[in-house]
Amino acid sequence: MELKDSVVVVTGSAAGLGKAMLQRMGQAGAKCIVSDVNAPAVASTLGELKNAGIECSSFVCNVTSESEVEQLCQFAVQQYGRLDVVVANAGILRDGLLIKTDRQTGAISGKMSLKDWQAVIDVNLTGVFLTVREAACQMISQKQGGVIIPISSISRHGFRGQSNYSASKAGVAAMVPLWAEELARYKIRVAGIAPGFIATEMVLAQMNERAREAWEARIPIGRLGQPDEIAKSVEHIITNDLINGVILEVSGGVRV
Ligand SMILES: NC(=O)c1ccc[n+]([C@@H]2O[C@H](COP(=O)([O-])OP(=O)(O)OC[C@H]3O[C@@H](n4cnc5c(N)ncnc54)[C@H](O)[C@@H]3O)[C@@H](O)[C@H]2O)c1
Repeated sequence: MELKDSVVVVTGSAAGLGKAMLQRMGQAGAKCIVSDVNAPAVASTLGELKNAGIECSSFVCNVTSESEVEQLCQFAVQQYGRLDVVVANAGILRDGLLIKTDRQTGAISGKMSLKDWQAVIDVNLTGVFLTVREAACQMISQKQGGVIIPISSISRHGFRGQSNYSASKAGVAAMVPLWAEELARYKIRVAGIAPGFIATEMVLAQMNERAREAWEARIPIGRLGQPDEIAKSVEHIITNDLINGVILEVSGGVRV
């Protein structure tokens, strides 16, 4: 698919990877919809994109709300007449061990709360399900196909301290090939990305300088990824019609 003049929605795009995706796609001539649960951040990102000469508009949307996600996809059509590309990107972390024990006594001192489990599943798994479902509804109705890109993570393989996050990202990765198969008859491609450690607020907020150096030592290329390196992979999926039903790992070779 050509990016120029295509209509693109990215959830969770007021910051981090989502914002970098819109910056890259907007520069390539796509019409961009900034969408995020954080309304002030949506307004400021919209301003930045407009200042960069990108044709864009915005819609505040919490991906855990079925009606808001429905309205988001309808908004794209009201605004620009159709919907061509949707990136299901919004995601959160609520890290913690399944069980914590006191080092000295061995007594149980904590456990991952149901609240933290559910919050991550709601945004990262149910939110992706709703986003992909509503994107597909719109693309099927307009009969012109489209591209849907769910964002997973290398944590899909299972990462210590991330029961909730790993489960959500493994769930997303599992659905990508089956969605690609189900939606192929409507000329909709579905391909995902599993980023490694990328320098966004989500990752940097969790790390001090020492932790960052320790992580960089574990990454074969010796550094964190940059948001635009994930945005480049989004562009590659959109513009290469042969990519379908797979998850691209974009991680500098790190293994978890
Ligand atoms: N940064 C990394 O290293 C990394 C690695 C692997 C996967 N990912 C995934 O990439 C995606 C983007 O991550 P990021 O690093 O840019 O994170 P980020 O925290 O910088 O940005 C995420 C954005 O999602 C928004 N958001 C949160 N909950 C939402 C909701 N319910 N509805 C709508 N928007 C919501 C936030 O407001 C924020 O603007 C996430 O799915 C994340 O799991 C990131």
